[in-house]
Amino acid sequence: MSDKISAETVRRDFDDIHAVLHYTRAAHHLGLWASERLLIERFFPDRTACLLELGCGAGRVTLGLWGLGYRHLTAVDFSGELLEQARSLAAERGATDITFIQADATRLHECHPLGDLYNGAIFAFNGLMQIPGRENRRQALREIHRLCQTGAPLLFTTHDRDDAPSERTRWAEEAARWARGGQDPRLVEFGDRYFADEYGGMTFIHLPDRREILDDLAATGWRPISDSMRRDIAIESRVVREFSDECRIWVAQKQ
Ligand SMILES: C[S@@+](CC[C@H](N)C(=O)[O-])C[C@H]1O[C@@H](n2cnc3c(N)ncnc32)[C@H](O)[C@@H]1O
Repeated sequence: MSDKISAETVRRDFDDIHAVLHYTRAAHHLGLWASERLLIERFFPDRTACLLELGCGAGRVTLGLWGLGYRHLTAVDFSGELLEQARSLAAERGATDITFIQADATRLHECHPLGDLYNGAIFAFNGLMQIPGRENRRQALREIHRLCQTGAPLLFTTHDRDDAPSERTRWAEEAARWARGGQDPRLVEFGDRYFADEYGGMTFIHLPDRREILDDLAATGWRPISDSMRRDIAIESRVVREFSDECRIWVAQKQ
């Protein structure tokens, strides 16, 4: 009998040396994706804005934002090992004005330094989808909502189970497995995956369909203002495509 995947499982997997090396390399050498940069420049045009980054990992996006001239950045992750790498990269680049905080995105209310209202928030590269349990993902959306001012944009990414015909076939097979109770017993909900990643670590991720995310945004006070598959936003380099699968990038606005 296997235990269900929990926040603790995910945090432990991100603290693992394989994940730390993988995300640290990306923070040092990859920086922002072309699609992220384009959407950030469109929806977060004010370089003086106070921005909250959730799931900052080793600092790929935070240091990318800093490189673009944003100077009021708060970066949060629950992995102590990844945060240590992010802090060290920030120090190396002279980005000493970034605030790094170790916290769980579903429990930001317990985190006292996060007192102010932010002008925008980013939960890049599927971090939100690495929270097991739909109610927990909604809780993270509520927590970010509480910390943002009205009208603030939130950028995040997900997969899309309906994107490709091959994916649809695979998920129909998975639905049949769930219907007969034959799914991986560690999974929490239909749409979850837990697998050995090519970098040698374990990865949990929930793959939603578009309707699920629209409903989650509506339930937590966010209005979707943009969502497109990454390939329709910008052409990414080979290294970015090797680092990350195709995804849907969302921007929502706090109501
Ligand atoms: C796919 S990694 C992306 C890291 C980094 N943003 C990047 O793009 O390279 C997802 C990140 O989300 C963090 N994360 C996942 N669940 C979290 C939670 N509940 N609270 C805070 N951070 C979380 C993980 O520790 C990890 O650093």
